[in-house]
Amino acid sequence: MQCLNQKPFTATRPVTSRARCVVRCNAQSQSHTLKAAAGAAAAALASTSSAHASEILSSANGLDGSLTFAVGGGVAIAGLGALLVATDPQKRRSEQMAQTGGDEKEAVKNYFNTAGYERWRKIYGETSEVNKVQLDIRTGHAQTVEKVLRWVDEEGSMTGLSVCDAGCGTGSLAIPLALRGASVSASDISAAMAGEAERRYQEALAASGSKAPKVAPKFEAMDLESVQGSYHTVTCLDVMIHYPQDKVDGMITHLASLADKRLIISFAPKTLSYSILKRIGELFPGPSKATRAYLHREEDVEAALQRAGFKVTKREMTATSFYFSRLLEAVRV
Ligand SMILES: C[S@@+](CC[C@H](N)C(=O)[O-])C[C@H]1O[C@@H](n2cnc3c(N)ncnc32)[C@H](O)[C@@H]1O
Repeated sequence: MQCLNQKPFTATRPVTSRARCVVRCNAQSQSHTLKAAAGAAAAALASTSSAHASEILSSANGLDGSLTFAVGGGVAIAGLGALLVATDPQKRRSEQMAQTGGDEKEAVKNYFNTAGYERWRKIYGETSEVNKVQLDIRTGHAQTVEKVLRWVDEEGSMTGLSVCDAGCGTGSLAIPLALRGASVSASDISAAMAGEAERRYQEALAASGSKAPKVAPKFEAMDLESVQGSYHTVTCLDVMIHYPQDKVDGMITHLASLADKRLIISFAPKTLSYSILKRIGELFPGPSKATRAYLHREEDVEAALQRAGFKVTKREMTATSFYFSRLLEAVRV
């Protein structure tokens, strides 16, 4: 296993703007384009097989260079899209939850301790055992992490600052923060993910040749709702996507109660184009858990932050072909 604090955190590939979503519709090609895009969406979502709506695609180019999916244009596609969005995918979610014999959180936990762990440990790694879609997601996610690190670096040294990274996954953010000298408390609902994060931290520390931080980072298996304490900064990247807005409201309230100064969160933004693409993917669920993913309206997330006494100070958007993530920094007012 290679060090986590290497390439993904220093990648300089420019962020793909949403403007990349190309409109290529005409009367003859609409139906063909939609079918192709739906197939590509299904393939992509099945291939990613996760509850990560950031994987919703804006472009099918990653699967077939000849395809370009139309987003944001074309009356017919928009009309069909609106219809798809209006159809409630809740039934499928309920079926998935029934299969895991638990509530939503249990289902997510189970996933990230089993198949999800296997998948995401590869995506959040550096090895070549990923397909094209997963590689794209790895790149997009690394860009999100890189933006957070840039934000924190802009504010000065992290040495000695306490950070809670809730839903730390394999430690993509927690590890470079710890190596910057922050006092990191990282936790994840999945024991497998938290364990992998700890293992990667030890590897990264050895490879970095730098001194261990004064306070060694803690990696714990714990759902974020159970995290206690008080931290300078609380981070929570790409976790809310697994939960509906009412749960996200509660998560934000709780995370905000832990943050003295700053909260950094990311979520998959709910826009018409991403909603359409998600719905297309939901028509082809396969073995994927992608249909569990939730998109969130930025206004709703911001309102929850405001209710918790926080004001958004920085915003970023990362959009690659298969990964979409809105990043917000909010500070206590
Ligand atoms: C898509 S991964 C993102 C991981 C990490 N934040 C990152 O960006 O590298 C989502 C993670 O959230 C964790 N998770 C999901 N629900 C959670 C909850 N209620 N509390 C804590 N962790 C949770 C999952 O186990 C998984 O590791």
